[in-house]
Amino acid sequence: MRALDKNSAKPLYEQLYENIRDDILSGKMSEGEKLPSKRALAEQQQISVVTVENAYSQLIAEGYVRAAERSGYYVQYSGGAVETQYAELTRGEFPNSEKEEPSGEGAFEPSAGDFPFSVWTRLMRSVILEKGTALLQPVRSGGAEELRRAISGYLYRARGFYQPPERIITGAGTEYLYNLLIQLLGRDKVYGIEDPGYEKLPKIYELNGVRFEYIPLDGSGMSADALYEKRVDAAHISPAHHYPTGIVMPISRRREIMRWAEGCGRYVIEDDYDSELRWSGKPVPTMFGSDATGRVIYMNTFSQTIAPSVRISYMCLSEELYGLWREKLGFYACSVPAFEQYTLARFISEGYFERHINRTKKRFRRVRELVLQLISRYPGSVISEENAGLHFTVEAVESAPQMIADCTKCGIKITPLSQYYSDKKGAEGLFVVNYGGAVEQRISEILGA
Ligand SMILES: Cc1ncc(COP(=O)(O)O)c(C=O)c1O
Repeated sequence: MRALDKNSAKPLYEQLYENIRDDILSGKMSEGEKLPSKRALAEQQQISVVTVENAYSQLIAEGYVRAAERSGYYVQYSGGAVETQYAELTRGEFPNSEKEEPSGEGAFEPSAGDFPFSVWTRLMRSVILEKGTALLQPVRSGGAEELRRAISGYLYRARGFYQPPERIITGAGTEYLYNLLIQLLGRDKVYGIEDPGYEKLPKIYELNGVRFEYIPLDGSGMSADALYEKRVDAAHISPAHHYPTGIVMPISRRREIMRWAEGCGRYVIEDDYDSELRWSGKPVPTMFGSDATGRVIYMNTFSQTIAPSVRISYMCLSEELYGLWREKLGFYACSVPAFEQYTLARFISEGYFERHINRTKKRFRRVRELVLQLISRYPGSVISEENAGLHFTVEAVESAPQMIADCTKCGIKITPLSQYYSDKKGAEGLFVVNYGGAVEQRISEILGA
């Protein structure tokens, strides 16, 4: 037991209580061990019996010690044992690790060299130093003003439309925002999702207990006729670059879908995932930017452009939907931590974000060339939609096994396209090639062999 400090401002009984409590927690005193009698301890520590009595009373009140009549005081808390048991239980693997896949399927695997760690560290430090206790204040429901302004500026520069910052709502990932959107638009709506498409969507709609319809794609993307036929109220699409086929929706199809949306209070949810990484031509304009009816909702994420672990995404709402959002959902606390929001705001507004995208594009332009060369080597392979994003499709009926084996060695993920269809059938011989995690050196080795 530590010595008591008779000159301390802390009362002696409190010091004694803390000493015994710490000995119990660290396992120095174990369950069932008898404590010295009050008188004996008072004599040993040169303090009064009342002081010991007060310390023991506090230990009894907090459940560390029990008093047995005419027998004395005993430790009843097995803190040390609990710690040991816990350490045993959690030794080695993260519990249930085999059941819990890393989330963010489809997102790229950023190499450590890509992420500007030093800039991020500096910005985070400056946020903490400059903001001080203001950092501890909750931010607005839709996100910190600085971040929403920074995103608005970025959208204007990079995606060519002006969105007032207050109508940009941030959230912890696009999938979180999908959940919010269902609450915003209503559970009575029928949602239309692309088939094939992003595999999380049907799960999210299903778990929210809302009706959704799979809408087939043709070479131009989601079929507008099927939207009428299936009586859809909100079409969930990715016109700039469809995941996973890579289809870019042509203007004629966008117009058809807009005509469909303008009737009867329908909505278009425009998921702009992956639009930043285009390899040729100009960025494909958004539907949101040219929508004068307020029927389009724009969504994007930093998962692809910074890292899937960042978990920050945003959606842009029309004036009417923003009003509804404030009324119905404005009570929610923002799901993105304030520290990260302020750091990201500076990262964007000080120009680092766009520089980072350019650097990432430069690297992936090189990787993409190598991957295209590699895939072209397999007899019968036909590549399509390779002009944007970090994935494309390939038809490789004859040479699939060799292609899959080589690509796997190089960190290139090959998935049958059928996996992205609702019935997991069809598209035989077609594969999605995802090169977000490709290792350049290994590809070069195979190409050179
Ligand atoms: C269409 C689409 N949207 C969004 C995401 C991921 O968004 P987040 O990481 O922000 O949830 C993906 C990931 O594959 C995607 O395919």
